[in-house]
Amino acid sequence: MRGRGHACRAGLGAGLLLALVHMGAPASAAPARTVSYYTTEQAQRGEGAYQQFCAVCHGASLAGAFDVPPLKGRFVTNWSGATLDRLFDYISKAMPLFSPGALTPAQNADLVAFILRENGVPAGKVDLPATDAALKTMMFPVISADRVK
Ligand code: HEC
Repeated sequence: MRGRGHACRAGLGAGLLLALVHMGAPASAAPARTVSYYTTEQAQRGEGAYQQFCAVCHGASLAGAFDVPPLKGRFVTNWSGATLDRLFDYISKAMPLFSPGALTPAQNADLVAFILRENGVPAGKVDLPATDAALKTMMFPVISADRVK
């Protein structure tokens, strides 16, 4: 019976996470719109850019280092509920730290897709757009940090 209880709780947690992910779009967005965060192909491109430009500091598995923050796990508490243009802008203007602003908007959108994937956000059917105006209408889903290890 104990085992069964655990399974139920795990199921409930996953369902809750899914519900939160699906509530991702802000209330002002057209309610009928399907939330479609990024595509698997886009996240794969982002992974390539990440390994080339970011992994040297943030680590191959996004775990960060002594003086560099991780990009998953507790990372999500910084961005959960914020519109995606914020993360996109931050990466566009402040990263990579040794040459901020060096990457193209498309590369930065790919990086956001990769970071979403690594934090457990499911892929959709449409690429993340690479403009502030479009990203402002999308939200970094509210994820609990201890669900992303
Ligand atoms: C030379 C090392 C270095 C490189 C390369 C680098 N970063 Fe960073 N990054 C940092 C440091 C240090 C911080 C913390 C900056 C601060 O607190 O002001 C940071 C912060 C961040 C944050 C904010 C983290 C948070 O908790 O909110 C993001 C997102 C980020 N980097 C993404 C990237 C991406 C994407 C790339 C590759 C395009 C990249 N970084 C490349 C060193 C680096």
